[in-house]
Amino acid sequence: MKRTVIAGVGHYVPENVVTNNDLSKIMETSDQWIQERTGIQERRWVSAEGEDSTSGMGTKAARNAIADAGLEPKDIDFIIFAPLSPDYYFPGPGVQVQENLGIDTIGALDVRNQCSGFVYGLSVADQFIKTGMYKNVLLIGSELHSGGLDKTTRGRGVSVIFGDGAGAVVLQASDDQSKGVLTTKLHSEGKHAKELALLGPATDRWVDRIIAENDPDDMSYYPYMNGNFVFKHAVTRFQEVILEALADVNKDASDIDLLIPHQANLRISQFVQKKMGLGPDKVFNNIMKYGNTTAASIPIALSEAKQEGRVKEGDLLCLAAFGSGFTWASALIQL
Ligand code: UT7
Repeated sequence: MKRTVIAGVGHYVPENVVTNNDLSKIMETSDQWIQERTGIQERRWVSAEGEDSTSGMGTKAARNAIADAGLEPKDIDFIIFAPLSPDYYFPGPGVQVQENLGIDTIGALDVRNQCSGFVYGLSVADQFIKTGMYKNVLLIGSELHSGGLDKTTRGRGVSVIFGDGAGAVVLQASDDQSKGVLTTKLHSEGKHAKELALLGPATDRWVDRIIAENDPDDMSYYPYMNGNFVFKHAVTRFQEVILEALADVNKDASDIDLLIPHQANLRISQFVQKKMGLGPDKVFNNIMKYGNTTAASIPIALSEAKQEGRVKEGDLLCLAAFGSGFTWASALIQL
């Protein structure tokens, strides 16, 4: 059986920085509220409609990851794209990356698991690689939230949290059994689907009625989050799914060299860090700079962690995510 190794990582974020103080000029919020509750200081939002897109940012991150792996786009033999905010309702952005990179007509799969999408995608790629079906899988997490947020005081509970950006990895087949993806754990609990969701427009709602009513107060076009409820579930599930992965490979928390949690809230990451008995140097956080970029947050963080020398060969890397669905997931990777 092959092993799945991370051959290259890359990310891309839009240039436009939006600080908490910038937001306090367009809605009733404050730098103090946002920092105290979330740890976020600033985020990137594309500056104008059409300037960038989920698929476009994903393509840029992908090019960086492919170059980091020392490969060319033609070496990729499968694409997995994890978006919560695709350019179009359908088709998903995987096919746009295939076109943008000028790759032959290889398969492109979109994984719709929101904040857990990257770890779900990693698990899917791992199965394809282990069985020998594909050699170089391009896995992308990319999100353009800013075009879909309610940027008035009405939407402040959500809009101050989310940012735009993309991250990507090239996952490669290896015969070296001492490294690679050791395990992945995936979970869902659909009874909480509406606690963090964007409900419309959708096939669940008749589009001709939506158009006829054209109701400016229809909030279903915007993401909704029951923040406290999500927070409480997140802190429990993060810890649970990390411990599940560690137990599966007979390791414990002290074996982790770096934990990269999905960047949902700095308070959640710090809570998990303390509960797991990890030192602050064992957890990577960059939500302060980018906000919550959902499926893109882990690959952006991984790319930055590599640039900063926080991950090195031989390290045990742990990835963990929780989000809409609810879905949650973890992965342990021997670098
Ligand atoms: O990525 C997927 C997973 N996501 C998560 O795990 C996120 C989990 N949840 C959270 O991170 C937190 O619940 C939030 C950061 C979203 C909210 O923090 P909170 O401490 O739960 O605040 P809250 O929603 O209970 O709101 C407290 C108060 C409310 O006012 P009242 O009712 O107490 O008068 C809100 O109206 O803060 C108000 N508020 C704001 N005030 C200033 C809500 N948003 C804002 C804002 N600025 N942006």
